Amino acid sequence: MLIIKQVIAVAAFFLLSRVTLAQQKDSVSNMPLTATANRPAQSLNGKWQVILDWYDNGNREGIVTNKMPVGKTDFLEFSFDNSQTLSVPGDWNSQRAELKYYEGTVWYKKDFDYQPNSYKRVFLNFEGVSYRCDVYLNGNILGKHEGSFTPFQFEVTRFLKPGHNLLVVKVNNERREDAIPARKFDWWNYGGITRSVTLTEAPANFIADYFVQLKKGSLRQLEGWVRLNTRQSQFATIEIPEAGFKTKIMTDTTGKAALVANAKLQLWSPQHPKLYKVNIYTQTDTVHDLIGFRSVQVKGTEIMLNNKPVFLRGISFHEETPQRAGRAYAEADSRQLLTWAKELGCNFVRLAHYPQSEQTVKLAERMGLMIWEEIPVWQGIQFKNPQILSKANQMLHEMVGRDKNRCGIIIWSLSNETAPSKARNETLTAMAKDVRLLDPTRLISSAFDHFRYNKNEILIDDPLSESLDVLAANKYMGWYAPWPSEPGNVIWKSNFKKPLIISEFGGEAMYGNHGSKDTASLWTEEYQEQLYKDNVAMFKKIPFLQGVCPWIMADFRSPFRMHAQFQEGWNRKGLLSDKGFKKKSWYIINDFYNRIKGTYGN
Ligand code: GCU
Repeated sequence: MLIIKQVIAVAAFFLLSRVTLAQQKDSVSNMPLTATANRPAQSLNGKWQVILDWYDNGNREGIVTNKMPVGKTDFLEFSFDNSQTLSVPGDWNSQRAELKYYEGTVWYKKDFDYQPNSYKRVFLNFEGVSYRCDVYLNGNILGKHEGSFTPFQFEVTRFLKPGHNLLVVKVNNERREDAIPARKFDWWNYGGITRSVTLTEAPANFIADYFVQLKKGSLRQLEGWVRLNTRQSQFATIEIPEAGFKTKIMTDTTGKAALVANAKLQLWSPQHPKLYKVNIYTQTDTVHDLIGFRSVQVKGTEIMLNNKPVFLRGISFHEETPQRAGRAYAEADSRQLLTWAKELGCNFVRLAHYPQSEQTVKLAERMGLMIWEEIPVWQGIQFKNPQILSKANQMLHEMVGRDKNRCGIIIWSLSNETAPSKARNETLTAMAKDVRLLDPTRLISSAFDHFRYNKNEILIDDPLSESLDVLAANKYMGWYAPWPSEPGNVIWKSNFKKPLIISEFGGEAMYGNHGSKDTASLWTEEYQEQLYKDNVAMFKKIPFLQGVCPWIMADFRSPFRMHAQFQEGWNRKGLLSDKGFKKKSWYIINDFYNRIKGTYGN
């Protein structure tokens, strides 16, 4: 009986997995399935077997086929046989003490069963692998990916087998000059399959992607598109039942259909983070999403949300749960970080310095937090290397591709503290143009730290500003830069009539270490507290200031920070300690935010 069942299963699989000739002719080849949410999925999370391959010396062919010794004289030194395991998702640094500083290769193996069914297309999705990887299924190379913080996928329809399948991923986190970020960065170099892995199924003709948002500056006009994987023109229906909205649009021979329609919607805002269920369906496929609608734009030196000026009461944080000293990956991690932000009095979060998990973005949006999201083009990038623009654009496309329907995101940021140069200006200007084509609805920014000084004046003259909607300055008055005058007498000037965010400011303090408020080298809470009071005094004198973002919410791990008594591998600029305890400066910002909460009505 079992044999008959197996024969039927195998026959069904090969019949069903053959997309009909007609469909093959009409299908747009290599169309990624970006619309993966709410589809039938098989999680591959859990324990994966691993091989440490520090010198990258493992025999690739033997490892990816999980070769075993044969006969009496054969042996293998790199094998999954009886190997240890690591949890996926999760960085390896915080899972095993000996891997705390590990930079090199780890081979991961996952055995899984797959049972063919009526779905005809199957995709293997990785939400994040740090930093580069090669992916093999049943001994076949599926492809490679570079970049720790954005999702990627492979169609595996023709590589899957009924029953047992062997998935092997080679992960390497070595820092390199031509990487993004490059060889040195002020956060921990976590390695591993740090976010979820899933198999997603779709019909032969599927809804590949969609973009449904309000047209920039409009409170009623929806603008966007639906993209199918078939060139055969067909209707796609977009429905927002709660708003009584429904429209049918026809796809063209590229599979794309444009959406332009009016709808009466309750707008998303920090006070009312309204999300609507949106259904999109065709003759063969249906997808659902929870989408908020709001308008964000700049008007002179103001940032406008739903046509009203808004001041961004922000905080930055890394994707790290300090208590576990590991990269955040779980829903609970996102909730902790965002609850800390709400408690501080924020309406805005800067996800530093890279796209954080999709669940953090979705939860922030549900909690009424506006979001700044950026790619890790951080300080010493080799802009003269022609590969950098394509790598940075790939990360931009993957970030915008994943989060374009997330109304909480109001700003895409291109880089952090990159020194002005011809190559840097050309690269970032090109990226700004590219991201505006990808998404015309959001604001573009980039955090910089090069200014012109004249006594107590700070002038913003970075030429990159021409390409930005919002200027963003990282300025550590009182820490890396002594005060040029009384804080309240510092004058900020700008060559550009655009809104300014102070995207980073702050200084270090060791929680529970008390003493002098005027000596930086003692790492006292009092010093940090006074520094924050002084910065608040300066902010009140900047007429075109529309937001501030203290650096940073909680102490975080960094190999830059090795002072034996006060740091021990932790950057202590947190308003919270690495255990989540409030330092005295936390109360300065909380008080400042509570006082300004009344302005702009938000
Ligand atoms: C820089 C940088 C941060 C860094 C911070 C610091 O501005 O953007 O990534 O952690 O300063 O020096 O602590």
